[in-house]
Amino acid sequence: RTPRHVAIVMDGNGRWAKQRHRPRAFGHRAGVQAVRKVIEACIRAKVEVLTLFAFSSENWSRPEGEVRHLMDLFLRALRKEARELAGNGVRLRFIGERNRFSPELRAAMAESESAALNEVRLTVNIAVNYGGRWDIVNAAQALARAARAGLIDPDAIDQTSFEQHLSLAPLPEPDLFIRTGGEARISNFLLWHLAYTELYFTPVLWPDFDETAFRAALNEFAQRERRFGKTSAQVSGKPEAANV
Ligand code: IPE
Ligand code: IPE
Ligand code: MG
Repeated sequence: RTPRHVAIVMDGNGRWAKQRHRPRAFGHRAGVQAVRKVIEACIRAKVEVLTLFAFSSENWSRPEGEVRHLMDLFLRALRKEARELAGNGVRLRFIGERNRFSPELRAAMAESESAALNEVRLTVNIAVNYGGRWDIVNAAQALARAARAGLIDPDAIDQTSFEQHLSLAPLPEPDLFIRTGGEARISNFLLWHLAYTELYFTPVLWPDFDETAFRAALNEFAQRERRFGKTSAQVSGKPEAANV
């Protein structure tokens, strides 16, 4: 009962730094180390896909200095870690609107995505300038264009064909969603994909999220009963009580 796909909102870097009377940037740097740890923990736990929310489409509204620092940190982390990740069988992908990033950053993203891997042990999707609503609108536009060009019949659009135009396609949906930092909200992360994902919220701040904290989330997930609309008796395979 291990989730195939885990999606994480990595929240709490700023508060972690504040507790230590340090600037927010200090928390973001510590957050990069936590990313490393959770990637290793996923490989050990045999999770197949990890999707990390690193920068939302709304995070551009932060102070200019913080945004600049995050972009810089992101570029440095990519340049430093991408090769080693590929060597360890970690395939990197980015989801989100890339046009707003610098040419250097876009080049580093494209380069790390095209790294040759001997075997894929884990796929890591990094959501940057990502918004769940953007993703859905993007898919709607692609389908509308195809319909206008006469390539598809609008009446034939269904959930399966819609999903193929979302940025996580063709990966499986997240089984487990984790949000660190104590807030109980989605913040415009994977809106479509979370329809039946198990949600897990922890007060642990992202820089403190280690393998033990990750294992606690996996244990909780293992105890959940995923019913997908059915009754408990149906999914557990036990004979139905005749008390309808
Ligand atoms: C998450 O930590 C990192 C990003 C959103 C980039 P925050 O920076 O949101 O940390 P808090 O929520 O202020 O503690
Ligand atoms: C969500 O965290 C986005 C990321 C972790 C990248 P925020 O800190 O931006 O979310 P809100 O603003 O508290 O909802
Ligand atoms: Mg936050």
